[in-house]
Amino acid sequence: MGCSTILVFLTLLSFASAHRKLLLFLLDGFRFDYIDDAELESLPGFRDIIGMGVKVDYMTPDFPSLSYPNYYTLMTGRHCEVHQMIGNYMWDPKTNVSFDIGVNKESLLPLWWNGSEPLWVTMTKEKKNVFMYYWPGCEVEILGVRPSYCREYFSVPTDQNFADAISDALEALRNGSAEMAAVYYERIDVEGHHYGPWSEQRKSALKELDKAMSNMITQIKNKGLQHDVNVLLFSDHGMTDISWTDKVIELKNYINMSDTIQMKDRGPVVSLWPVPEKHTEIYQKLKAVEHMNVYNIQDIPERFFYKKGKFVSPLTLVAEEGWFIVESRDKLPFWENGTGKREAWQNGWHGYDNELMEMRGIFLAYGPACPDTRWGQCHPPACPG
Ligand SMILES: *[C@@H]1O[C@H](CO)[C@@H](O)[C@H](O)[C@H]1NC(C)=O
Ligand SMILES: *[C@@H]1O[C@H](CO)[C@@H](O)[C@H](O)[C@H]1NC(C)=O
Ligand SMILES: *[C@@H]1O[C@H](CO)[C@@H](O)[C@H](O)[C@H]1NC(C)=O
Ligand SMILES: *[C@@H]1O[C@H](CO)[C@@H](O)[C@H](O)[C@H]1NC(C)=O
Ligand SMILES: *[C@@H]1O[C@H](CO)[C@@H](O)[C@H](O)[C@H]1NC(C)=O
Ligand SMILES: [Zn+2]
Repeated sequence: MGCSTILVFLTLLSFASAHRKLLLFLLDGFRFDYIDDAELESLPGFRDIIGMGVKVDYMTPDFPSLSYPNYYTLMTGRHCEVHQMIGNYMWDPKTNVSFDIGVNKESLLPLWWNGSEPLWVTMTKEKKNVFMYYWPGCEVEILGVRPSYCREYFSVPTDQNFADAISDALEALRNGSAEMAAVYYERIDVEGHHYGPWSEQRKSALKELDKAMSNMITQIKNKGLQHDVNVLLFSDHGMTDISWTDKVIELKNYINMSDTIQMKDRGPVVSLWPVPEKHTEIYQKLKAVEHMNVYNIQDIPERFFYKKGKFVSPLTLVAEEGWFIVESRDKLPFWENGTGKREAWQNGWHGYDNELMEMRGIFLAYGPACPDTRWGQCHPPACPG
């Protein structure tokens, strides 16, 4: 066995035996190339994290490349068709209840959440304390369990909220009240939607996030936590440009909406429940629409690991990248940009085929005790000879 092999083995061993606490960050809508080599030059916080940690080139999200499905894939280690959280918007025809991006009361019902066990539930069951900050779903009782602490999500936590959450999380890890802390950050996603992935607004949100990361590193050192915590940072999906001037598919132009019982979500992926007698007719009509695919359940590609989900609708519509499916233009998700009216256009979206480059997210691991070198070379035992 060569020296380097021994080194790798002992390094792995030292990680396996290290009983470090864990700090998680879920950075919504953080596309992989927001921190490519060129972008990193102006991001000292992320540069420090990567310098003392590891960064994967990208992380491919699960299909659909939307938030809730991927929050849950990341925390359960299962594909959507197993953990059952298959959309930001879902409907259960058996009980006639809806999940509407976690904001309606019915979205707290266990049926949406107990398909698989998320990490924080596993840890809590093992008598480890978990503190969660703005993490969607931390307020839900899942498989009979809630985390020790949940600062509930609201729309949209500010940078100050985020900074406070990081300080409180680190303090909870330091004073022994938590073994794991988990913090959610949304602004990168919000600006990416409103102004597009390469907008100044999205870049400025990243600069603020970068400052928060530098502050985190300082606090870890000040609290003497370097040897006690590991930090993981990941995102749920990326973001791509959309154009409501020329890339909108209005379903009402192709089908009679009264021939449908239910439609959930709009944009890249739409779930449709046709009136049963009209199923074939609707399918045929939608089959002819350009820039999107329509699938019967059994025809959904295997590689999506989606079709076996119990909330999958009889028809699933998937748009070509950049295209936006909606019942009619007046139902586009306009937003309020300070004029007092919901009239501003969105310029970015995600949810498309998960293998598209633009849908890819990030995954970073940071070991604060590492000096100024890569994680794999941290704590190496002295090499004989
Ligand atoms: C299902 O729920 C919706 C909204 O809550 C309601 O409008 C509708 O009447 C319900 N349908 C049935 C069949 O109960
Ligand atoms: C999850 O919730 C659903 C609906 O309440 C229930 O039918 C199912 O048995 C639950 N599963 C587990 C594992 O608790
Ligand atoms: C530990 O820190 C957390 C977060 O700031 C705080 O809520 C808690 O009261 C502290 N516990 C103790 C025992 O000091
Ligand atoms: C749509 O369907 C409804 C109900 O079947 C029917 O009354 C209406 O005339 C149809 N509209 C069009 C444009 O065909
Ligand atoms: C808000 O949106 C409207 C409509 O799209 C646009 O005309 C206006 O310039 C926007 N204002 C700001 C401050 O971005
Ligand atoms: Zn998201």
